[in-house]
Amino acid sequence: MADKLKVVVCRDLGPDVMPLLLNNPQLDVVVWPHNKVCERKWLLENAQGASGILVMLSEKVDDELLDTAGPKLRVVSTMSVGYEHADLKALLTRGVRFGYTPDVLTDAVADLSVMLALMAGRNAKETTEIVQTGQWPNFVWSPFAFCGPQLSTITTDPSASALTPTTRTAGFIGFGRIAQATLARLVPFGFARCLYTGNQRTPQDPAADAALAAKFGVREVRRVELAELARESDAVFVLAPGGAATYHIVDEAFLKGMKKTAVLVNTARGTLVDSDALAKALHEGWLYGAGIDVVEGEPNVGLDHPLVKAPRCIVLPHIGSATNETRLGMATLAAKNLLAGLLGQEMPAELST
Ligand code: DGY
Repeated sequence: MADKLKVVVCRDLGPDVMPLLLNNPQLDVVVWPHNKVCERKWLLENAQGASGILVMLSEKVDDELLDTAGPKLRVVSTMSVGYEHADLKALLTRGVRFGYTPDVLTDAVADLSVMLALMAGRNAKETTEIVQTGQWPNFVWSPFAFCGPQLSTITTDPSASALTPTTRTAGFIGFGRIAQATLARLVPFGFARCLYTGNQRTPQDPAADAALAAKFGVREVRRVELAELARESDAVFVLAPGGAATYHIVDEAFLKGMKKTAVLVNTARGTLVDSDALAKALHEGWLYGAGIDVVEGEPNVGLDHPLVKAPRCIVLPHIGSATNETRLGMATLAAKNLLAGLLGQEMPAELST
């Protein structure tokens, strides 16, 4: 009988998914036994001789890990759509295939993006604090307390040819699957314009933009420069990948250019937003509010973090994809990618490295 293939799994994927791996007679499965981030030392010790490794966002996939695993390694599968933690060149050099989990989390992250835009504009941070700290009895309802900008339009006239002052404009930094799913959710709120920034290497395509406008039922979809996006948008959604090309793309200059009534939402990666600049912008009122699901340097975000202390800034601990349905989908896809990679089959979602 052929030797079993060793696979290392960096988190228990639960009773619905683990049997896919554990009940496979061809595999010898080693699972990190704790419900916390997999320790590097444990991973390196166990990766030796592995044919497959299943990682989370928290595990760096680099030369050290790949060399430690050695020449039997065929596949690395990450339970995430983002892959900044993986050195794609290092994988390619060794001929190791790489699976990830696109699509299954699109709706969950788009839902949360809209939720954060609403929370940012409606003072959710300050108002929930009032209740949670027992201050509601001292808070008297008053006509304009905690009023913020309304996300939905107050009046819409779909037949009007000119843009009315109440027409909302959505700005997307990055306009991939999650951004487009977010736009679809914003249309019923009355968003009629969509501006976005794209990869500079991809040429402008007005025909494709017009087709997207028709698809979403909005008056305009247009790729613009960052300055115009900041100036025109009522809600800016940061939804581009992390990495060097997008590092601090939202900086002081961008934030200074935003409407004072606008909100900023980041459900992509913390590195895209300069936290100090955003905190300053919120203190000084350059924009109205922010909804942040990802923070540079997370999870080291304590009470003294500038964004946690900033007014009208909702900070969540990276829960964009955290629904039962989505996490199950991600775990299943990650396990199936691993299995297919091990057996030399077509992977359901392989990133071409
Ligand atoms: C991902 O998959 O990259 C998300 O950030 C985690 O849900």
